[in-house]
Amino acid sequence: MKVLGIETSCDETAAAVVERLPDGSGRMLSDIILSQPDHADFGGVVPEIAARAHVEALDGLIQAAMAGANIGFGDLDAVAATAGPGLIGGVIVGLTTAKAVAVASGRPLVAVNHLEGHALTARYTDRLAFPYLLLLVSGGHTQFVAVEGIGSYRRLGTTIDDALGEAFDKAAKLLGLGYPGGPAVEAAAKSGDGARFALPRPLRGRPEPNFSLSGLKTALRLAAEKIAPLSDQDVADLAASFQAAVIDTVADRSAKAMALFGSQHPDLNDRALVIAGGVAANQAIRDTLTHEAATHGFRLVAPPQRLCADNAVMIAWAGAERLALGLTDPLDAPARPRWPLDELAAPVLGAGAKGAKA
Ligand code: KG4
Ligand code: ZN
Repeated sequence: MKVLGIETSCDETAAAVVERLPDGSGRMLSDIILSQPDHADFGGVVPEIAARAHVEALDGLIQAAMAGANIGFGDLDAVAATAGPGLIGGVIVGLTTAKAVAVASGRPLVAVNHLEGHALTARYTDRLAFPYLLLLVSGGHTQFVAVEGIGSYRRLGTTIDDALGEAFDKAAKLLGLGYPGGPAVEAAAKSGDGARFALPRPLRGRPEPNFSLSGLKTALRLAAEKIAPLSDQDVADLAASFQAAVIDTVADRSAKAMALFGSQHPDLNDRALVIAGGVAANQAIRDTLTHEAATHGFRLVAPPQRLCADNAVMIAWAGAERLALGLTDPLDAPARPRWPLDELAAPVLGAGAKGAKA
């Protein structure tokens, strides 16, 4: 089964062709990602600029992905596109384009949840069997999910305020490190002293595997204001101290999530903790989780960095997994700005929090 995947939910325009073989393994035939550079000047993604850039780039990218796979539209078995959640203008561009290709080629459409794309990547890279525990950490989402089947997700924990990637981005902005913030903070932290500033480890020890990150961000700001103006070494030390607090927090929260998942699946022999989403590219977080997972009888599955950040291979793969089960979508499938993986999960509100990010 060959599936074209299209991803346009944020500031990456991406197209890829993936083949799913009868034994359930996957093979990438092409993988094209165009990162939009224009947002750095604004310190964040500007939705309207992103949507227009998707319009300009997408046709060419699809052509390149098809040429790279050396196939024609008639060779496809389905066309998959991100149908949400994300910036709605961009989602509409990708989904509408996918519908056009589906109509023109007479192939079925698969409207993919972007988060399901992240969640299923480990099945493409490592042929992981269900169930497994997922830590999804991106710019807009931070949650533990029990992945029990295609379309079968139970949220075990979530952030009660900021997403982890958002916290990295805000920390970078505060320290004058630019956008996107995650890679910049990680790089600055390398030459810093992570013990110089005592920043909080929010929710540490609490049994529910939730996150709270806004207090950490405020503590970082106060620590920076106290010693301003900042030298390069101050910035490095602040970045390192911030990342140290994040790492401790991720380790502690993951320990609770693994305990919870383990208690819900007492007979499962091969226990896997998967990390996905842009923040999963962070090497310090990967190293910490490798150790933490081993301590709790889990193995860490971390897809290669290119497949952790937004890409179209994961959308094509999720489309292929759905197609294999006959799960295709009608041509009026809606674009959805919000689309939680676990539609039944209740909101989790923290003290003073605006509300949970699903
Ligand atoms: O999954 P993703 O590419 O897009 C969303 O769907 O949000 O995640 C982007 C997020 C950004 O907040 C970015 O700062 C963060 O992932 N990120 C990182 C690293 N690389 C990207 N955060 C920490 N360390 C990194 N190396
Ligand atoms: Zn993403």
